[in-house]
Amino acid sequence: MSQSIESVLTEKRVFKPSREFSKQAKIKNFAEYKKLYDESIKNPEKFWGKQAAELLWNKKWTKVLDWKAPFAKWFVGGKLNVSENCLDRHLNGPRRNKAAIIWEGEPGEKRTLTYHQLHREVCIFANILKRNGVKKGDRVLIYLPHIPEAAIAMLACTRIGAIHTVVFGGFSAESIKDRLADSGATCVVTADGSYRRGQAVTLKQNVDRALEGNTAVKRVIVFRRANMDIHITEGRDVWWHREADYVTADCPPVPLDSEHPLFILYTSGSTGKPKGILHTTGGYLLGSLLTTKYVFDIREEDIYWCTADVGWITGHSYVVYGPLALGATSLMYEGAPNWPQSDRFWDIIARYGVNIFYTAPTAIRSFIKWGDEWPAKHDLSSLRLLGTVGEPINPEAWMWFYEKIGGGRCPISDTWWQTETGAHMITPIPGATPLKPGTATLPFFGIDAAIVDDNGKEVGPNEGGKLVIRKPWPSMLRTIYGDKARYKKQYWSEVKGCYFTGDGARRDKDGYFWIVGRIDDVLNVAGHRLGTAEVESALVAHEAVAEAAVVGRPDEIKGQGVVAFVTLKTGIKATEDLSEKLRKHVGAVIGPIAKPDEIRFAEALPKTRSGKIMRRLLKQIAAGNAVTGDTTTLEDFSVLAKLRASDE
Ligand code: PRX
Repeated sequence: MSQSIESVLTEKRVFKPSREFSKQAKIKNFAEYKKLYDESIKNPEKFWGKQAAELLWNKKWTKVLDWKAPFAKWFVGGKLNVSENCLDRHLNGPRRNKAAIIWEGEPGEKRTLTYHQLHREVCIFANILKRNGVKKGDRVLIYLPHIPEAAIAMLACTRIGAIHTVVFGGFSAESIKDRLADSGATCVVTADGSYRRGQAVTLKQNVDRALEGNTAVKRVIVFRRANMDIHITEGRDVWWHREADYVTADCPPVPLDSEHPLFILYTSGSTGKPKGILHTTGGYLLGSLLTTKYVFDIREEDIYWCTADVGWITGHSYVVYGPLALGATSLMYEGAPNWPQSDRFWDIIARYGVNIFYTAPTAIRSFIKWGDEWPAKHDLSSLRLLGTVGEPINPEAWMWFYEKIGGGRCPISDTWWQTETGAHMITPIPGATPLKPGTATLPFFGIDAAIVDDNGKEVGPNEGGKLVIRKPWPSMLRTIYGDKARYKKQYWSEVKGCYFTGDGARRDKDGYFWIVGRIDDVLNVAGHRLGTAEVESALVAHEAVAEAAVVGRPDEIKGQGVVAFVTLKTGIKATEDLSEKLRKHVGAVIGPIAKPDEIRFAEALPKTRSGKIMRRLLKQIAAGNAVTGDTTTLEDFSVLAKLRASDE
């Protein structure tokens, strides 16, 4: 990791936005960005108060911020409805018949929903929810493929004040079970199945397994996507399309308090169980709208495509809420980028004339591997702006994206943010910010980001430290659902008075932020967060395993790969077969993305005298590097020798 940081710090290339781009952009030059940024930091409440006029309020707030650290209330006393902001307010003008969502299924089906049509579908589904007993404040778990119904279900929840918790369709029954228990959801929205690389994936079956022994869930609403045979539990399971026959398309939006919970999204942390990040109505919507507006510089006529699945925060903020609040056209594609062949994305861009394309570095590294001939086959000249998210992008991947996809004319918005931040935090403003490959550049308006040492003191240029945010911002998480103490401890106790991101970073002499990556026990595998403890608890739950320690190792495509060091119970033999079984087991417990790339059987794990596993050593061994640094606290030196020997 430190090597890659050295190389990015010597990165000298600078790319200024073209005059043509800047001339038409919302923020037209760096001085304009700087002026607005400085004002926003000098008086954040004034800034955010002014920006809040972008939303449609049923009742105006009386106070911008009520900050009883670390608990924030934004736009106190205000009332609004998210679905009204994303739909109804676009209906009385030329946007009424504009495409809100353009969708393409993996097998090739195509659908376009105008704002009028989407509004109608959302009203119908909101009435279906009501008919099935869902009320304001109830939690609804959504486990759907990447299809318009995912957005429809989310927006329908917001229309009636139900709180959605979306679970990525690639997660397992076990993961659904945990999230149901933690959120106390009473309704599940799912589909019979979905498609991935031509294979039908069984979603309803996973829900059935997750619901074994669950008495809290009263209804499962099933959308028919893959024409699969599924089991229907009478009295609990209903079909979406049948329910639609019983309701009207008339469902007025309910005005909700600014701080009414909007959604819970689970993400990995440093413990074995994912935590429920809680976002609320007014602040979250403002954050996602403003960043979509300025960071993607969307114009009325644009086709905008964010490739993230709705199961992740990027899908929430930048497939659904941000673009729709802005009245933009958001493209959704259901499947894999290399299905039926490696040019599916470029084919989609050419066919729809996509103008703005937002994806992940891990995908870009795969594209590079697949070869330049795939994008070269297609006309990508409609593209005006590119974006990346999820992990640091290595400068060479950035250059490839810039040249081969952007034709050397499209700025790249490398956006640093988190599930917890709700919206972009450190990012270029494309008409204004000179770009350097590999850095997310500078903070968004109103975001007071800094890098501090262990004592909370800001470090000098090019010195490494912890990335923190020094002031609250509207789209910040409000708490970890049901666990205020953990919220306080996790985010607000590491550095006094600041929100701690969990990331390490440096700033160069121009003040640009270079993110190194997580400095806690969280891995970033193909842009997805994964707690080492989560994988470890899955492993030790297997009958053969005594102890497990999981670390990341650099991976050319995924950024980080997962390596598990495992000790076995007495009498159990370490075999290839067992290794494969354990990999599959982790896949079944968490989801395929968590499957270790390698299982290494060991006789013992290196521990300090106080019994803590020395991950630093394991990381070095996993990466194939020589073990360096302090090993004096190692309890038993022979353990290290054996681990090294097993490497040879
Ligand atoms: O380590 C940072 C990395 O992803 C983490 C947040 O993960 P998650 O909550 O799953 O959200 C991902 C999508 C917003 C961060 O702590 N990360 C995200 N974007 C970037 C990044 N690292 C470097 N550069 C980025 N642009």
